[in-house]
Amino acid sequence: MTQELLKRSLGRDDWEEFRNLRLHALKSHPSVYGSSYARESLRSDVEWQDILESKTMRVFGAFNDKALVGLAAAYDWLSDETGKSACLGMWYMTPEFRKSSEFTDLVKLTIAWASAQNKYDRIVVSHREGNESSKAVNQRLGFEYFMTRADRWPDGPTADNYFYELRITK
Ligand SMILES: CC(C)(COP(=O)(O)OP(=O)(O)OC[C@H]1O[C@@H](n2cnc3c(N)ncnc32)[C@H](O)[C@@H]1OP(=O)(O)O)[C@@H](O)C(=O)NCCC(=O)NCCS
Repeated sequence: MTQELLKRSLGRDDWEEFRNLRLHALKSHPSVYGSSYARESLRSDVEWQDILESKTMRVFGAFNDKALVGLAAAYDWLSDETGKSACLGMWYMTPEFRKSSEFTDLVKLTIAWASAQNKYDRIVVSHREGNESSKAVNQRLGFEYFMTRADRWPDGPTADNYFYELRITK
């Protein structure tokens, strides 16, 4: 399929579109994220802006003309105290643009950013049990499974979280 979406890093000026799509993703898919609409809807405008200028995180967006329709981010994985693991998250694509490979190309930008930081040995990503769409993307990009963790999810239940890694070759 022809690639039709513009993909780029988001900056401070993009904060309102970023906030709106992130909150929409959390509200419309309450079972797939480690965060929740209830938590993130409390963020101030400045907090949303600061995320887009963080030195330890980079958010990328896919645009259909001027409308933000996809999100993906890379950031320090706090579960690795050595600081040598990046993590990918905030994955969301508006339904009409799904299954077109556009999202996989957006994730490639987050991988390129993490690789260019020269401080990470690997990139980690995870999905809740049953999230086959998320798994399909990481498998397509060559991630390898390395662990399962039982997590308490914001919508209530404890369920398995499957983790995958991509080694960064220097
Ligand atoms: C996860 C998400 C961003 C993936 O977007 P997407 O548009 O399907 O991604 P892509 O088009 O790049 O898909 C990559 C591959 O996975 C395949 N795929 C997507 N969903 C699939 C599914 N449910 N089952 C099997 N394969 C699937 C695609 O067909 C494509 O494979 P192919 O090129 O070999 O045919 C999207 O489904 C989404 O926003 N889901 C809701 C939020 C969410 O779950 N976020 C992730 C939290 S961990």
